Amino acid sequence: MPSSAPPLILGSMRFGDWGARLSPAEVARLLAAALDLGIDTLDLADIYGVHTTNALVGAALRHDPSLRPRLHLLAKVGIVMPGSPDNTRHVQHYDLSPTHLGATLGSTLRDLGVARVDTLMLHRYDPRLDADAIAGWVAMQRERGAVRGFGVSNFPAAALPLFRGTLALSAHQIELSAAASQALDEGTHAASRAAGAEVQAWSPLGGGALLADDERGRSLDGIAHDFGLDRAALLLRWVASLPATRVVLGTTRPERLAEAVRAVEHPLPADAWYAVWQAARGRPVP
Ligand SMILES: NC(=O)c1ccc[n+]([C@@H]2O[C@H](COP(=O)([O-])OP(=O)(O)OC[C@H]3O[C@@H](n4cnc5c(N)ncnc54)[C@H](OP(=O)(O)O)[C@@H]3O)[C@@H](O)[C@H]2O)c1
Repeated sequence: MPSSAPPLILGSMRFGDWGARLSPAEVARLLAAALDLGIDTLDLADIYGVHTTNALVGAALRHDPSLRPRLHLLAKVGIVMPGSPDNTRHVQHYDLSPTHLGATLGSTLRDLGVARVDTLMLHRYDPRLDADAIAGWVAMQRERGAVRGFGVSNFPAAALPLFRGTLALSAHQIELSAAASQALDEGTHAASRAAGAEVQAWSPLGGGALLADDERGRSLDGIAHDFGLDRAALLLRWVASLPATRVVLGTTRPERLAEAVRAVEHPLPADAWYAVWQAARGRPVP
């Protein structure tokens, strides 16, 4: 990430059938607004919208061909949904075999209408994974120009060294908000940094749950007020105050992007950072 860029990524999970049902033109407008603010990274996954959102993004890229060259595409693969044709037992599972990765990288490139994704990410940890086989497969995809960087998502801290010596991890995408902060308690955030991976924090607003009008929310509002922020901005600032961490935004509204950029311009001071954590999780640190 260039040092002047805001530490933000735009997430696509809610663009289509799993959220706002934007049209291709609306997605194109959202992407253009993000790029104009310096947010150049777009998070994607083959399963979003039950395998329809990548195609929606592809239609947006065709609608405005000036977008693709400016975007860094992060594409996640590896989850097999119950309705997938070859999933005979209809059980949600993970498959990180080169055969599955090859098929889903292929459908990702086709749906997006692009020749390459900038970073390919394994969406979930599969305890059956063969790190050497994955490293060999990624090397082949790099050679043919279909993939540049490699990352993982939702891996336990202890699994990150599996790729040590074979494959550099550019990023680790994990759930991280003031309320869902297990990654800090359990050391996943620290382990990602130690592995040299950028942390990408998904659901920074708890999927919107942290915006409810309840007691917890009102105490967050009090802290936000001291910084001239609203609650959502305070929560984004809380995540972006962590080192080596970018925030994966879930909004589908262009007008919220500028607010997010303002939110992450400065880190919170230590006492305010801990006050937010305490208010959100309901107990002080020891
Ligand atoms: N790696 C993984 O396993 C994984 C899992 C989940 C998500 N992700 C990625 O992370 C991204 C973000 O996740 P998320 O969507 O759960 O993030 P989030 O930012 O926690 O939640 C987004 C939701 O909050 C709403 N929201 C945002 N700002 C608001 C505000 N100021 N006031 C009221 N509502 C507001 C949004 O509505 P509006 O659209 O109306 O703003 C949207 O419904 C996803 O798009 C996806 O790319 C990755």
